[in-house]
Amino acid sequence: MKVVVTGGAGFIGSHVVDTLLARGHFPIVIDDFSSGSRKNLPSEVPVFAVDIRDREKLSSIFAETRPEGLVHLAAQMSVSRSMREPAFDAEVNVMGLLNVFDIAAHYEIQRIVFASSGGALYGDVNDPVAEEAPKRPISAYGISKWVGEQYLEFYARERGIKGVALRFSNVYGPRQNPHGEAGVIAIFCQRMLSGETTTIHGDGRDIRDYVYGPDVALANVLALEKPLENSFTAINISTGTGTDVNEISAQILRLTKQYLKTRGRTTSIPGSQHGPARHGDLRSNQISPLYAEKILGWRPQVPLSEGLSTTIRWFDAGISARPLV
Ligand SMILES: NC(=O)c1ccc[n+]([C@@H]2O[C@H](COP(=O)([O-])OP(=O)(O)OC[C@H]3O[C@@H](n4cnc5c(N)ncnc54)[C@H](O)[C@@H]3O)[C@@H](O)[C@H]2O)c1
Repeated sequence: MKVVVTGGAGFIGSHVVDTLLARGHFPIVIDDFSSGSRKNLPSEVPVFAVDIRDREKLSSIFAETRPEGLVHLAAQMSVSRSMREPAFDAEVNVMGLLNVFDIAAHYEIQRIVFASSGGALYGDVNDPVAEEAPKRPISAYGISKWVGEQYLEFYARERGIKGVALRFSNVYGPRQNPHGEAGVIAIFCQRMLSGETTTIHGDGRDIRDYVYGPDVALANVLALEKPLENSFTAINISTGTGTDVNEISAQILRLTKQYLKTRGRTTSIPGSQHGPARHGDLRSNQISPLYAEKILGWRPQVPLSEGLSTTIRWFDAGISARPLV
């Protein structure tokens, strides 16, 4: 299947591209490179450097390439920016999304997979929640993801498309940007490998459900491939297991030390310090993946310790490759 991947040069998008190729599909990437990188992509993949807000250019790409499937991942990703600039968030995550869905519908796309967010929709929840749980988006980012789902449901119903909203929990793995506000694993891996200090906001007992990027990528591709009964389906993509930040920090510290030792390198790594809690951080967010198994035959494959080890190795390759000053 020929598949447009918006945001395909980003962290999750580039893993989706890899998985599409591995399963015999033909990915086409649309990305404005605001946070993504060409280095994340194999050279044979067609790439269009276009902002999803540019309707005319988007339209000409669809006219030229005539894709059958769409994975829509391009987004304004920062929760704090969405709080400061809700209109900018909506420009990309609502108006940009509408451009993409509208043009895809015009060119008779058969299936759309949309990256939604379990964390932003369900808010503070102590037990792994199923898809029917109440939606309580608090941030502008959460509101735009929720609106995006409603628009997908609308296009699916009205234009005979199959629409799938995947509600990811906290995704981590190689290629995640360690310079953002989120992605504690990327930030800690990079800093600990460099022997830098790491800070845990608050008491470190905030719980999240960490799911590995390549596992999430497979869920996206299965959502394109599997026969689906309903025109619109929302599916959680998560592990169902919560881990607190203290535990994440301790595991990354232990695995980084172990990794450096096997390579004959000694770096003293300070343990994480605790700083003030961040306003608005959720106490607990846990998400059930049971429906994903039923509908997509998907379940997470990579255990946390294995995913962390691979992520540490990947960040080390990046750090070692940079010139030393
Ligand atoms: N990482 C997570 O834990 C997580 C959790 C839930 C949902 N999501 C969603 O998954 C998607 C991908 O996230 P990611 O973690 O890979 O982030 P990312 O920043 O690595 O990827 C986003 C990609 O979109 C591109 N992009 C941004 N604005 C664009 C625009 N206006 N036009 C064209 N391209 C644009 C960026 O350059 C980047 O390549 C996003 O929609 C995000 O909201 C991510």
